[in-house]
Amino acid sequence: MSGPARRAEYLQALGIDCWVPRTALTCAAAAPVEPAHGPAESPAKPLVSASPRRAGEAGAAEVWEQLREQVRRCTACALHETRTQAVFGVGNAHAEWMVIGEAPGAEEDRRGEPFVGRAGQLLDAMLRAIGLSRETNVYIANILKSRPPGNRDPRPEEVAACLPYLHRQIALVRPKLLLAVGRIAAQTLLGTDAPLGRLRGRAHAFAEHNVPLVVTYHPAYLLRSPAEKRKAWEDLQFARSLFAQIRTPEPNDGHCS
Ligand code: URA
Repeated sequence: MSGPARRAEYLQALGIDCWVPRTALTCAAAAPVEPAHGPAESPAKPLVSASPRRAGEAGAAEVWEQLREQVRRCTACALHETRTQAVFGVGNAHAEWMVIGEAPGAEEDRRGEPFVGRAGQLLDAMLRAIGLSRETNVYIANILKSRPPGNRDPRPEEVAACLPYLHRQIALVRPKLLLAVGRIAAQTLLGTDAPLGRLRGRAHAFAEHNVPLVVTYHPAYLLRSPAEKRKAWEDLQFARSLFAQIRTPEPNDGHCS
């Protein structure tokens, strides 16, 4: 199948049947980069700290394994009592894109992998539409590693207990772009209570790791509100154009005059 045909197929999966002009969106070049906040607090217990790049590939694998094991055994919040298993993260550990969701749902809790239910299938289709997949070039993780019962919103103490793990994952992956899907992920990472609609369409900076961050709707919300898929597509286009600029900086970037 040709590239355009594949894109058309994915857009159809999103319920989008035509290209959307991006005039309504802020151009990444002109967009103010907004500072975000770092982690709510330090981890209750020490997390692995070695840099995988320094430690080399074998060391990196060990560092990842230690972190995965810490998450697997974590009892820092009450959710460990009700989860089937902790849901760590999935994808390419060297990915340039990292997608961050809210928390595992029932299917994720059962299978131990983020975004594998209906919302996950839609997320995969959205990512494929911009050339990304968990099998090759994106890493996917959640704010919480344990499922909140009944899929309720995460509680502040749960986020505070779990967020250091996500920070370690971001530090290890060292992505060039973060895509926060949904209000909880966006508000948590940006340290704001601004509504999601106000956070879309511009580039934020995830200050702790100095990574650009783009916000879009959660795929579960898009399943409930398919009319919003068009806006999610705009967000993905925006993220992709921002990423292209990050990868190919202007010739004068980095030079002082
Ligand atoms: N929703 C999320 O935010 N994350 C998952 O892993 C699944 C559903």
